[in-house]
Amino acid sequence: MTTERAFAACAPGLEPLLAGELAALGLRARATPGGAELEGEDAVALACLGSRLADAVSLRLYEGPERGLDAARAEARRRYGPGARPVARVRGGLATLSLDAAGAPLYKRGWRQRVGAAPLRESVAAALLRFGGYDPARPLLDPMCGSGTLPIEAALLAAGRPPGAGRAFAFERWPGTDARRVAAIRARLTAGRRPPPAVIQASDRNAGALRLAQKNAAAAGVAEAIRFARIDAAQAAPPPGPGLCAVNPPFGVRIDEGAAEAWKALAALLPRLAGWTLAVVAPDRGFERLLPARQAAVLPFVDGGLACKLLRYQL
Ligand SMILES: C[S@@+](CC[C@H](N)C(=O)[O-])C[C@H]1O[C@@H](n2cnc3c(N)ncnc32)[C@H](O)[C@@H]1O
Repeated sequence: MTTERAFAACAPGLEPLLAGELAALGLRARATPGGAELEGEDAVALACLGSRLADAVSLRLYEGPERGLDAARAEARRRYGPGARPVARVRGGLATLSLDAAGAPLYKRGWRQRVGAAPLRESVAAALLRFGGYDPARPLLDPMCGSGTLPIEAALLAAGRPPGAGRAFAFERWPGTDARRVAAIRARLTAGRRPPPAVIQASDRNAGALRLAQKNAAAAGVAEAIRFARIDAAQAAPPPGPGLCAVNPPFGVRIDEGAAEAWKALAALLPRLAGWTLAVVAPDRGFERLLPARQAAVLPFVDGGLACKLLRYQL
């Protein structure tokens, strides 16, 4: 396979985290509005199989003046068949023609049983873990786990299981894709499989949410890797640390009840997390003023049209 150029998309604001993840996969990645431009051998396969932060990946077929688009479309039909549906974009006189390589949203990992009240998108959960500097050798705690997205993403990462390992992607059906080469990339990315080395603990005060999280974890094959407990965050007992507390308190927009109370419960947990890192995904509504901690970093982003931020604290 020759060098490929591709584009990986993410929620606006998360681009630097996505570019960092793709660079760690061995690709040349440059953050650009809405995602990252990629270049490298097997860029499409590596991004589809290995990226937890990307929502979509497309192969760049053409980049140049707008007048070149028709010829690029004809070449795409010749190469990928009449059914190929490349997408053209023109911005500031520069045109691109790209072909969706994944076939389905990448954040749909395949384990979600039923959508909970306000589940976090898997790719945003992965972004929070990266932002929080998640180290699988250290414990992880999510004291408001809802349907379990954060601990499940953490467990899959800690277990060395790439997000695309068990999925089939559109690019695999393209003429010219070398199935053996893709199989070798899958094998390489899954070579580090192991049981997660440290405790991953997830709790919620809601019994229904917890049941759903347990079902999701079982479907993802990581039920054994996560300790679940039904408990209010204010009373949660963290495992011996320090580690990362990653949490997505109620947004107060989609589920309005008790958002401030949830943040107060989180505040009550903080004295038991001395030395830990706290990473929070939150709406841009200032609830963090309820936390008795000094913010170390903030990354604003947009989730489904809603202004949000990732927050990090060193406790
Ligand atoms: C936005 S949801 C979390 C969604 C989750 N990240 C997911 O992907 O499904 C917030 C969760 O916080 C829980 N919660 C609210 N207040 C809590 C408290 N004081 N203690 C523990 N859990 C609480 C709710 O039951 C809800 O499941």
